[in-house]
Amino acid sequence: MQQIWGSERRRTAIGRMTLSVPARQALADRQLVPERTILDYGCGRGDDVRALQQLDCQVAGWDPYYRSDMQLVASDVVLLTYVLNVIEDPAERRQTLEQAWELTSTLLVVSARLTWEKSKVHGQEFGDGLLTSRQTFQHLYAASELREYVEQVTGARVVAAAPGVVYAFRDEGARLSYLAQRVIPDAEWLASEDTASAVSAVVDFFERRGRPPGIE
Ligand SMILES: C[S@@+](CC[C@H](N)C(=O)[O-])C[C@H]1O[C@@H](n2cnc3c(N)ncnc32)[C@H](O)[C@@H]1O
Repeated sequence: MQQIWGSERRRTAIGRMTLSVPARQALADRQLVPERTILDYGCGRGDDVRALQQLDCQVAGWDPYYRSDMQLVASDVVLLTYVLNVIEDPAERRQTLEQAWELTSTLLVVSARLTWEKSKVHGQEFGDGLLTSRQTFQHLYAASELREYVEQVTGARVVAAAPGVVYAFRDEGARLSYLAQRVIPDAEWLASEDTASAVSAVVDFFERRGRPPGIE
């Protein structure tokens, strides 16, 4: 489908031989599981969608250029993978994030290219980014900028999962259980009777002190 864009966004979609870094991270963090529905919003050529389907995930993909005929359905997890950084219009960038958040019922995974890749991206200054010789646009994010931006637009408490990958949880229980699993990965204690307060207590400690509680 022909889109009227101020840059050649379709050219930014590469073919992938393996899962993208954000999808791999979300899998490793047990956020992409067969029980959850997943939407890859701005899926490009759809390689992550195919790879996740092979892992028995219930996943659909939508893209304004490559898959605009697919129906958009709200899903437990929405992936917004390297989309924001290619949108040259800041107002549309924000609307895109808002739309992805609207479609999310549990977790939105947002990823973007970071400023440390500056030396790999050549082009002329254009708006708040660069326009390359292929007429593609890149707004490279500082790591804290991405987290703060997603937090501001969604109003959610956002967690940095990896460099350039942030999680915005709509479901507080899912956020607590993710944080608890990160703090104490071998969570035998999660089988205790009062799991909810145990998780909240550990997460609260972690958020206030920036480290897990000691054994004492
Ligand atoms: C860098 S590619 C990433 C594709 C895919 N997510 C991946 O990681 O392989 C950026 C994609 O964003 C899509 N895109 C551009 N504007 C968009 C918008 N407003 N909403 C959703 N997707 C958009 C483009 O069509 C393109 O496929």
